[in-house]
Amino acid sequence: MSKKILVTGGAGYIGSVLTRQLLDKGYKVRVIDSLMYGGEPIIDLLNLPDFEFVKGDVRNEADVRKAMEGIDCVAHLAAIVGDPACAQNPELAKTTNIKGSEMLYKVANEMGASKFVFASTCSNYGKMDDPNQFVTEESTLAPVSLYAETKVAVEQFLLSQPQSNNCKPTCLRFSTVYGLSLRPRFDLTVNEFAKELALGRELVIFGEQFWRPYCHVYDLARSVVSVIEASAELVSFDVFNVGDTSENYQKKMIVDEVVKLIPDAKIKYVSKNEDPRDYRVAFEKIKNKLGFELMFKVPDGIRQIKKVLDDGFILNPDDNKYKNV
Ligand SMILES: NC(=O)c1ccc[n+]([C@@H]2O[C@H](COP(=O)([O-])OP(=O)(O)OC[C@H]3O[C@@H](n4cnc5c(N)ncnc54)[C@H](O)[C@@H]3O)[C@@H](O)[C@H]2O)c1
Repeated sequence: MSKKILVTGGAGYIGSVLTRQLLDKGYKVRVIDSLMYGGEPIIDLLNLPDFEFVKGDVRNEADVRKAMEGIDCVAHLAAIVGDPACAQNPELAKTTNIKGSEMLYKVANEMGASKFVFASTCSNYGKMDDPNQFVTEESTLAPVSLYAETKVAVEQFLLSQPQSNNCKPTCLRFSTVYGLSLRPRFDLTVNEFAKELALGRELVIFGEQFWRPYCHVYDLARSVVSVIEASAELVSFDVFNVGDTSENYQKKMIVDEVVKLIPDAKIKYVSKNEDPRDYRVAFEKIKNKLGFELMFKVPDGIRQIKKVLDDGFILNPDDNKYKNV
C-alpha cells in the first residue's frame, strides 16, 4: 500500500509543486491549507483519487487531527512566509509559525506519523561576520528578523524532542527560492529581477554586493521528497541546507545573468553598506548524505520567467496575488 503524506501549505508556491511530485511518484497526498492566496494552484488535483484536501488552519487542533488521520509522513510548509509578511502581522506569524508547528508535531507523533519534514530557511544564519566564509549546518544561527526567529524556534523545539519519539523530525534550511510554480511569485529576488527587466522597466538594485544562496522551487520540492524516501537513520533529528554551493550569488551576479538574455536592460545600482541578509552557504552535507543534486540553476529560472512573460502566459504580472505582501 502506498504511503500517505500530509502536506501543510500545499496550495502555496512550493507546496503546490511538492504535492504534484509526490502524486507523480505514486504517493497518496492530503493537503491542509487555509487558502490565504486561494486554491487555484491545486484545483485540478481535486479530480484525482489519490488526492484529498482539508480546508483548515494549522493552529486549530481539530483541523489538524482531521488532517492527520492515517498519515505516515508530514511535510510541514504552512507558514507566514518572509520578513515583510511576518513584520506586517507579528502575532499571526508567531501563532502560525511557532505554536501551530509545535502542535502539529505533537499531534503527528501521537497519531502515528513516522517522519516530520520541516521547511526552515537559510535566513536562520543571519549576517555573517566574514561573508568570504561559507556557513554550514554547524554554524551559529543569528536570525535578524521575526520570520527567521520563528523558524529557529521550531527547529530547536523539534530537535529537542525525545529521540525515542515515533515521529522523527528533519529540518530543511531552504535557500531563497525562485522559478515557476502553480502559484507564481514575483516578490522573490530572481523572479522579480527577471520580470522587471523582461517588461522593459528600469531595475533599481540596492546593495549589489550582498551574497545569498538560491534554489529553484522544483529542486526545493525534490529535497522534501528525498527526505521522505531516505532511510530514517540518514535523516532523523538532523538538519540539511538545501541548495548547491555553486549557487551562492551576489545580487549583481544575478543581474549579469539576466543581462545575458536582455542586453538592453536598464539597471541602476544604489550603494548600501548594511544588509542583514549577507551569507554564503555550503551544501555538501545534503549532496554527500542523500545524493541530492540540483536540476536547475539560476540562469534556467531566469529563462523560464522571461518565456512565460514574453509569451503572455500571465496577463497581469503586477497583480498583488503574485506577492506575499
Ligand atoms: N519562499 C522562500 O524563499 C522560502 C525560503 C525558505 C523557506 N521557505 C519555507 O517554505 C515553506 C513554503 O513557502 P512558500 O514560498 O510556498 O509560501 P506560500 O506563502 O506560497 O505558501 C504558504 C501556504 O501556507 C498556507 N497557510 C498559511 N497559514 C496557514 C495556516 N495557519 N493554516 C493552514 N495553511 C496556512 C497558505 O495559505 C499558503 O498556501 C514555508 O514554510 C516557508 O517558510 C520558503
